[in-house]
Amino acid sequence: KRVLVLNGPNLNLLGTREPETYGSETLGDVEALCRHTAGELGLTVDFRQSNHEGELVTWIQEARQTADAILINPAAYSHTSVAIHDALRAVALPVAEVHLTNIHQREAFRHHSYVSSVAFGVICGFGSLGYKLALQALAQKLK
Ligand code: DQA
Repeated sequence: KRVLVLNGPNLNLLGTREPETYGSETLGDVEALCRHTAGELGLTVDFRQSNHEGELVTWIQEARQTADAILINPAAYSHTSVAIHDALRAVALPVAEVHLTNIHQREAFRHHSYVSSVAFGVICGFGSLGYKLALQALAQKLK
């Protein structure tokens, strides 16, 4: 089974971006963890990052043909994007939402995510481990 792993804006800067909040791991490290975990679970991952809302929407639409599930860290678009919400709803694949940080412990504008209502589960606050846990949950779901 194939999982599309999507990362939203500014996650390309992981490792150098606000390390006191996001830690020192890079997005490459997160990708390596996802590939390793997927291998153990018998999944394949297509790992991507974009700073563009429309590009993420297009990739979500294409997932209808190319993926069995979506793991998404929508980053700042979590809190703003009706378009990503609608795209995820349209493709009707299982969605797991991940945030590195505990968004509920942070500024009030991060407490609401437009993606959560279309996800079957949400993980936040466990850093990159959240990606691993979400892949495990998706593997279970896809059995
Ligand atoms: C984030 C949390 C968002 O509020 C923020 O805009 C991000 C990253 C996280 O992984 O903790 O860019 O999604």
